[in-house]
Amino acid sequence: MNLWLICLFNVVVGLLLAMPERVLGLEHAESHGASEFSGGLPDMCAGTLGTWCQDYQAQKPFMSKAWSSSDWRCSDENCNNVGNCNRDIGICDCMAGWTGDDCKTRQLRPCTNKHRKSGFQPQGPPQNSSEPGWTASRCAGVCDDDRAICYCNGTLGRIPPAPGSPPGTPPLQLGRPMVLEECNPNKDDFGNPVAHGQRDPELLFGANGWCEAKQPQWQCPCVIEGRTGPTCDDPAEHTCNNQCSGHGRCNFGFCMCDEGFYGHDCARHVAGADLKLDLSQRPWLRDVTSDAAVEASRAQTRLRPLIYIYDLPSIYNTRMVEYRVNKGICFWRSFVEGNGTSITQWTYSIAPLLHEHLLQSPHRTLDPEQADFFYVPVYTSCFMHPIFMWADAPFWYGPDGPRVMHTARMLLEAKQWLQTHLPYWNRKGGKDHVWLVTHDEGSCWVPSEIRPSIILSHWGRRDVKHVSNTAFPADNYSSEYVHPEWSPNGWTNIIKGHACYDPDKDLIIPSFLGPSYIKQSPLLGFPARERKHLLFFRGNMGRGRAPHYSRGIRQRLHHLSQHHRWRDHHSIVIGPPEEAGQDGEYAVMLSSSRFCLVVPGDGFSPRAEDAILHGCVPVVIMDNVDPVFATALDWRNFSVRIAEDDLEHLPKILKAISQQQLETLQHGLSHSQQQSVLV
Ligand SMILES: *[C@@H]1O[C@H](CO)[C@@H](O)[C@H](O)[C@H]1NC(C)=O
Ligand SMILES: *[C@@H]1O[C@H](CO)[C@@H](O)[C@H](O)[C@H]1NC(C)=O
Ligand SMILES: *[C@@H]1O[C@H](CO)[C@@H](O)[C@H](O)[C@H]1NC(C)=O
Ligand SMILES: *[C@@H]1O[C@H](CO)[C@@H](O)[C@H](O)[C@H]1NC(C)=O
Ligand SMILES: *[C@@H]1O[C@H](CO)[C@@H](O)[C@H](O)[C@H]1NC(C)=O
Repeated sequence: MNLWLICLFNVVVGLLLAMPERVLGLEHAESHGASEFSGGLPDMCAGTLGTWCQDYQAQKPFMSKAWSSSDWRCSDENCNNVGNCNRDIGICDCMAGWTGDDCKTRQLRPCTNKHRKSGFQPQGPPQNSSEPGWTASRCAGVCDDDRAICYCNGTLGRIPPAPGSPPGTPPLQLGRPMVLEECNPNKDDFGNPVAHGQRDPELLFGANGWCEAKQPQWQCPCVIEGRTGPTCDDPAEHTCNNQCSGHGRCNFGFCMCDEGFYGHDCARHVAGADLKLDLSQRPWLRDVTSDAAVEASRAQTRLRPLIYIYDLPSIYNTRMVEYRVNKGICFWRSFVEGNGTSITQWTYSIAPLLHEHLLQSPHRTLDPEQADFFYVPVYTSCFMHPIFMWADAPFWYGPDGPRVMHTARMLLEAKQWLQTHLPYWNRKGGKDHVWLVTHDEGSCWVPSEIRPSIILSHWGRRDVKHVSNTAFPADNYSSEYVHPEWSPNGWTNIIKGHACYDPDKDLIIPSFLGPSYIKQSPLLGFPARERKHLLFFRGNMGRGRAPHYSRGIRQRLHHLSQHHRWRDHHSIVIGPPEEAGQDGEYAVMLSSSRFCLVVPGDGFSPRAEDAILHGCVPVVIMDNVDPVFATALDWRNFSVRIAEDDLEHLPKILKAISQQQLETLQHGLSHSQQQSVLV
């Protein structure tokens, strides 16, 4: 794969490795300290803080014990044909549409035109096409009401399985998808306008329309999972974590495991299961599947740390993937034409990416008793967008209130599930558990009960008495919400009393930037450009946002820059795309500037990643906030930090940096990008 991941992984793993000493006591100290293996990779550790990196490299492999699963049975071992029996606890994990310990309870997610405001009864689709109301799942065709995904009616429409078919029976005809505004009619059956629909009904339902003609006169974008081609008729592989380890079938993000296998990615297995991996029928899976964990479950030599990845009920992770209508979001890769792999541009891709790479990692253990760490995969950002409010479920615990409240409760509920079903949380009070929250201010609304754990996030805000600074009201974690039934005392009490980020145990990790972001980088062999601009920043400068967006930093900089003509006097290029856009492509500008700004947006903004990947020295302006890997890399060696109070002196401060100092910083930068963020 790419070096970026290896490096990210090493940093994360390395820090975790240091944790047993720092946080947990000294139980694995015997595996540290030997130096026989050091020296092999001389540059790996340059510029890192502390000794975690060297310790990781220096450890000796040890012999691990062979693992065998426990053998709890589920009351229905086939889980109603719509799930897998988790043999560790004797409870089925169910695909979308089903719930309960044996997957026998229907759990519908109908397409809907409006949200219920009380109770838990799904609303269902509009009774007739004139009925007002809009949600993203509003459906003028045939709804897959396991997932709230809308398909065509008519000749090329969806034909559900015959009534009375057994659970898990596929539809008789899949149907062409008809999702989102661009594929929804802008008029009802009587010719009255329909809010949010964008398409002339003739182009959808007419004789030459999308739902009727093999070669339609207009095509909906084919964004749905499992389909490709201009008319969306060609079957493609569905995306699952680790593609079910090659021991199962992927269905919209959910792995239906082969006989003898179970767990989130079908890596767990009962004694006697056939462990041979055979991808000869599906060669396109070879690049994206690994059965390293299955292999490593047999006794062999290993390196610490060993990480156990929980197979949480899917509602906390893959169910979100099952509910999405666009394969470009909620996962870091997708299958395209011919089952090739494409990397998506989803902002929060690090969540599925880290999860998948941990699942495939040689550091993964299937045996919780041998684990140094426990990773708890909860897909909070995918839930917040696009899943939340697109249909009638899921909510935590009613449709109202800020979405951060729902998400915080989702995390809390996952923790409570761990505590009731397995013994590992209580052993160390959660200190050896690792959670990832990727959203703007994600680190700030992690529930107090989870705070003993190691939190990975993008937002390194350190102050204890913090209030939300988002300009997006649904993400305001300081906004209280009271509901007589499920929130009589409000909700903010579950998150109060902690800094967003504790540098002694938490870690700020970079956002994943796909190859398209860095295709101009001189660090990747593209021709180096003269760095003719002193400073560059392009982005929203506050237009259309509340004044506290970016703590006001972007707005103040923009004003100062215009008022004092920084561009003319100092070659400082700061502005929104519509203003700074004519100067050249973003990546080209990053590659032709000496310094690049790292300032907040609604929380984090992945600007350090942009700067570092293009060899531009980051200028960090966000008081009391740690940038990525602040506790792992020595940021003094490759960046400049300026206080929020000193914005007006920015040109003077940068101009006082000598050519020699700049070169030292640039040299430090080449280390840091090697360590952390090079693709
Ligand atoms: C980083 O900077 C510190 C002090 O500013 C210095 O001691 C150290 O040698 C530098 N490290 C590298 C790799 O340049
Ligand atoms: C369809 O819904 C609209 C709006 O609720 C209503 O006015 C109309 O009478 C309904 N038409 C039929 C045929 O039920
Ligand atoms: C499909 O649904 C649309 C919108 O309700 C309707 O106008 C059209 O007649 C339907 N097509 C068929 C073949 O039933
Ligand atoms: C892609 O994968 C799907 C699902 O496994 C399969 O049906 C299809 O034939 C594959 N397409 C190609 C071109 O290999
Ligand atoms: C968030 O909500 C609180 C409480 O309603 C309010 O006082 C605060 O101004 C809001 N914060 C932002 C950044 O809008």
